[in-house]
Amino acid sequence: MEKFVIQGNTRLTGEVEISGAKNAAVAILPATLLIDGITTLENVPNISDVKIICDILTSLGANVEWTNYHTLVIDSRNLTCTHASLEMTSKFRASYYLLGSLLGRCKDVEVGLPGGCNLGARPIDQHIKGFEALGAEVNYEQGKINARAKELIGNSIYFDVVSVGATINLILASVLAKGTTILDNVAKEPHIVDVANFLTTCGADIMGAGTDTIKINGVDKLTGNHTYSIVPDQIETGTFMVAALASKGDILIKNCIYEHMDCLSAKILEMGGKIENLGDSIRVYCDGDINSTNIKTLPYPGFPTDLQPQIGVALSIANGTSIINESIWESRFQYTNELNKMGAKITAQGKTAIFEGVKNLKGSPLYATDLRAGAALIIAAIIADGTSELYNIHYIDRGYENIEDKFRKLGARIERIK
Ligand code: UD1
Repeated sequence: MEKFVIQGNTRLTGEVEISGAKNAAVAILPATLLIDGITTLENVPNISDVKIICDILTSLGANVEWTNYHTLVIDSRNLTCTHASLEMTSKFRASYYLLGSLLGRCKDVEVGLPGGCNLGARPIDQHIKGFEALGAEVNYEQGKINARAKELIGNSIYFDVVSVGATINLILASVLAKGTTILDNVAKEPHIVDVANFLTTCGADIMGAGTDTIKINGVDKLTGNHTYSIVPDQIETGTFMVAALASKGDILIKNCIYEHMDCLSAKILEMGGKIENLGDSIRVYCDGDINSTNIKTLPYPGFPTDLQPQIGVALSIANGTSIINESIWESRFQYTNELNKMGAKITAQGKTAIFEGVKNLKGSPLYATDLRAGAALIIAAIIADGTSELYNIHYIDRGYENIEDKFRKLGARIERIK
């Protein structure tokens, strides 16, 4: 088992290059199964979740090859199987995108019920409601979910909750359906727009991605021989923006999209940080105290739940009291127990956590409870007095590429110990 050993008291300065978006990659890779041809994907993050998806695609008969560190070539002309192994798919959440893509292409699919980070109950009723509206029959048994249809026919689907997963899954299922599908009350995250852009490049007819309503006119076939570059990772960008603020440092974050960061930028400014928009780079620095503020997580363009633990670290050392209201996942405050071990004063109950800012944090043994909590605890250890050991770092490897190298280049003293 690996751990990070992190010496604290570090002000982060320098440049960091952002990778392709994890949340886009884990949806676009299953989307390649809809294509009767060869796809080249560039700017693919080299992370463990992507490697698992590649193994799953291979097990279904696709030919998947890394042609360099960030480029994948996927040939999905000759799929041999529509049932993905329970062991592989139950490991992580995004395997549910195989439901939409294989149902769309083959009208038959079986996967393990999705696993992933433990953030509380993670229902998929909206996905199922959508597949059924297109004419599929969906069943669960013994940890598996299967869906099949004679044919899929476009329909109007109103989602009861704004769901990233359900929005993407229904885009995947309807691009090859007969007729028109209208998806209402959809999620608008940048990676949803990226999935739609990718499919459009391959011949899909999708309008409205990034708004509340998406209209899809089904086409007969999606074609290959396209090269598509995955959008920069909004959450990795935000993680380094918060790291600059919390460490009172100065970081130039390169290869990112400023407009995707509006909500976080507004909070960083409120908290006393400074931000410069430099085109495809963002400079974030802080040369004074950190102010308290209140935050509520919401679907995009609201404050992302995936940046809540990281901003929580900055609030734990802010002047005064702050409140975070987590409206997406009920178990997303587990990291506050770890921060309290470091001397933070946080009271978390249900969906609300109250942060009474302290002067500084102290190094401690720490346990990552999920992917984003892990990233937050790296930041906490970097700014704390003394040394921290961070365990369960496999969670972090799921979604951040070479995170210790990126932090080390900014001056952090972080070592991966086997
Ligand atoms: C969510 C986040 C996403 C984040 C990911 C991992 C939102 C809108 N989505 O995406 O930004 O990257 O977690 O942290 O911020 N729900 C249902 N029924 C369903 C599907 C979802 O009730 O069929 C509920 C969930 O319980 C949750 C909310 O809707 O409270 C959002 O879920 P969803 O967007 O589907 O989750 P992810 O796609 O995992």
